[in-house]
Amino acid sequence: MARIAHLSDIHFGAHDPKIVAATEAWLQQHQPELVIVSGDFTQRAKRDQFRAAAAWLNRLRAAGMKLLVIPGNHDVPLYDLLRRFSAPLRRYKRYISNDLCPFYEDDAVAILGLNTARSLTIKDGRINHDQMRILRDRFASVAPDKTRILVTHHPLFAMPIGRGGELSEAVGRHEDAIRAARAAGIHIALAGHFHRTYAETAQKMVAHAGGALVIQAGTATSTRLRNAEPQSFNWLHVHRHDSIELQVVVWDGAGFRRGHHVAYSRTENAWTAQPIIDSAAMPGIRIAQQAQGSGSDP
Ligand SMILES: [Fe+2]
Ligand SMILES: [Fe+2]
Repeated sequence: MARIAHLSDIHFGAHDPKIVAATEAWLQQHQPELVIVSGDFTQRAKRDQFRAAAAWLNRLRAAGMKLLVIPGNHDVPLYDLLRRFSAPLRRYKRYISNDLCPFYEDDAVAILGLNTARSLTIKDGRINHDQMRILRDRFASVAPDKTRILVTHHPLFAMPIGRGGELSEAVGRHEDAIRAARAAGIHIALAGHFHRTYAETAQKMVAHAGGALVIQAGTATSTRLRNAEPQSFNWLHVHRHDSIELQVVVWDGAGFRRGHHVAYSRTENAWTAQPIIDSAAMPGIRIAQQAQGSGSDP
């Protein structure tokens, strides 16, 4: 089994220091096999913000944690046009990671991160054809019994982001990206960017998307919230390639508490959700908006 903490949208520069400290305490206590951070380490890609993000990552590393990280659109300078177009990710590479296609593999999972942040778009993301080739190649030799996970900052799919279910933009070239993810046999697609936790089967978003489960993380530590959804991150247990559990870990104003909890099982080419009733779980935000399968949400 792999236990993975998926955090996103840290936004040093628009962060709450006590929530940052609480992420460290929670992760040190629970010791995941891997911590994934799916971008937006900084608010404005400033040197001080990157230094603070690097120090946070170094404290996690010093506590024995393995990390898989990718940049987000906020890690590309917005107003410094020279830097934005000449060396958009120079500071990210210097302070956070040189590797823009990080790959992690153990007995249970194979995980690839791809950078979707671009200079030419302010906030929308894109996947290019080289990355799609990397996606196919990286998973070509992975054993079939491992869970294959793709991590991007911008989700591959249009997401419901408003209170009324309004849809976001999908990542650029998303039709090609979805085809590549399907060809690579991706089981789970992790992303962030919208500061909203969410989980849904890809097929519900795009009919020909294949059998992936799409999981979005909220913002872990930013003070910029969407729809007043509190800070959160996702706690993922991969039991087998056809069985996982997902629980949102939510900031309650004083500490992180476990919240909505869902078990997913995969048969043939589709995931079905089964809510897990946890009387101690924090009510409020839900990771699965339209849980499928038998049973009803608590
Ligand atoms: Fe963000
Ligand atoms: Fe973002």
